[in-house]
Order: sequence, then C-alpha cells, then structure tokens
Amino acid sequence: MLDFFQDQGSSIQYPRAPVKTIQQLSYLSAKTKVRESKIHGRGLFAIADIAKDEVVAVKGGHIVDRKTLREKITPRLGPVEIQIDDDLFIAPVTSEERELSMLYSNHSCNANLGIRGEITFVAMRDIHAGEELTHDWAVTDDDDYSVQCRCGAPNCRKTITGKDWQRRELQKRYEGYFSAYLARKVAMLDMGSKL
Ligand SMILES: C[S@@+](CC[C@H](N)C(=O)[O-])C[C@H]1O[C@@H](n2cnc3c(N)ncnc32)[C@H](O)[C@@H]1O
Ligand SMILES: [Zn+2]
Repeated sequence: MLDFFQDQGSSIQYPRAPVKTIQQLSYLSAKTKVRESKIHGRGLFAIADIAKDEVVAVKGGHIVDRKTLREKITPRLGPVEIQIDDDLFIAPVTSEERELSMLYSNHSCNANLGIRGEITFVAMRDIHAGEELTHDWAVTDDDDYSVQCRCGAPNCRKTITGKDWQRRELQKRYEGYFSAYLARKVAMLDMGSKL
C-alpha cells in the first residue's frame, strides 16, 4: 500500500518513496553475536548463558540441489549452505541475501550445537556466555569432501570428511542431534547391523 505525505501549507499529497526493509532470512537468538573467531574468520558466540536444548539459530534461504550449489552458488558466495537432505541444501542465492542467511557457526570436533529437524540449531548442553557456538559438520553433512580441521579442540579429528556421520563414536555422541535425514540413515545402519 502506498504511503503519502503532505507539504506544510499545501493541500497536495505526495507519495512517499517505498522504504526497502531488510528481511532476515535466518533466525539468530538475541543471545548470540557474530565476531572474529580463533577457528576461522568470523564465528557465532554466546553473549548470554544458553540452556541445553534452547534454540540458537534457524537457517533460512532457498532450497537448491548440489549441482546448483556447486555450479552457481559456491563460486560466487563461498560456503554459505547447510545440507538438509541427500541432494538438497538451504542457502542464499544472491550477494544481497548472503549476510541475511549466514549463521557463522564454525565447525568444531567438540561442538556445542546440534540439529533439531534439518534447519534448527539447538544447544546440546548448557553453554556459558562468551563460548563460541559451533556445530560438528558430521551432524549435517553427507558429502564427498575431506578438509583439515582447525578447531583446536583436544579431541580434534584433524581431518574431517563428509562421511563422518558414519563413524560409530560420533553417532553415539550426537544421538538426538543429527539432522533428520542423517538420523534416519543412522537408524537404517543400526537395523542392518541387527539383522
Ligand atoms: C559457513 S562458513 C563459517 C563462517 C566463516 N568462519 C566465515 O567467516 O565466513 C564455513 C567455512 O568456515 C571455515 N571453517 C569453519 N570451521 C572450520 C574448521 N574447524 N577448520 C577449518 N575451517 C573451518 C571453512 O572455510 C568453511 O568452509
Ligand atoms: Zn577439529
């Protein structure tokens, strides 16, 4: 709907220029702040205590397949996505949307965030103000990459891969906090091993 304003001493009404509002695509709890991280670039930090299972962030964006992500999005915007199924990712698609969608959660092998559903990041334990908020990519990813980890945690795996969700020790550690599509895969493996 058009908004109007009236010049003082005049009866003429002029249409006000539409104001472009910036609409966030993702949700970040008011208890979080993005700032420089020792792990990599910018990271997400707790600025107040967060209770176990509290919602910390919800990823927003467009749903795209792997081919679109690799060919059209990553080359322009860098790593901006969260995997939500075998061939589906949620990501911004334009440079204007990038900042509105980024969560800035770095990977840690000693993560304090897990996933509820596919896009909701929750605290896996009580978190104190000042801690960096991280998730282990093992809870979201089923992919073919292998990268050197710089999380610095005492239990750092050093090399993290897109198949880490298959590691038994991680399946136990992150039980209840895997993305739903991975939780289903873990359950299928469990069923297979019991047959
Ligand atoms: C979605 S970004 C996270 C935010 C990023 N720190 C930034 O400033 O844009 C994911 C990227 O951060 C880097 N990263 C995050 N955690 C890392 C880790 N533990 N070891 C090495 N690189 C990491 C990798 O380059 C990865 O592709
Ligand atoms: Zn690590």
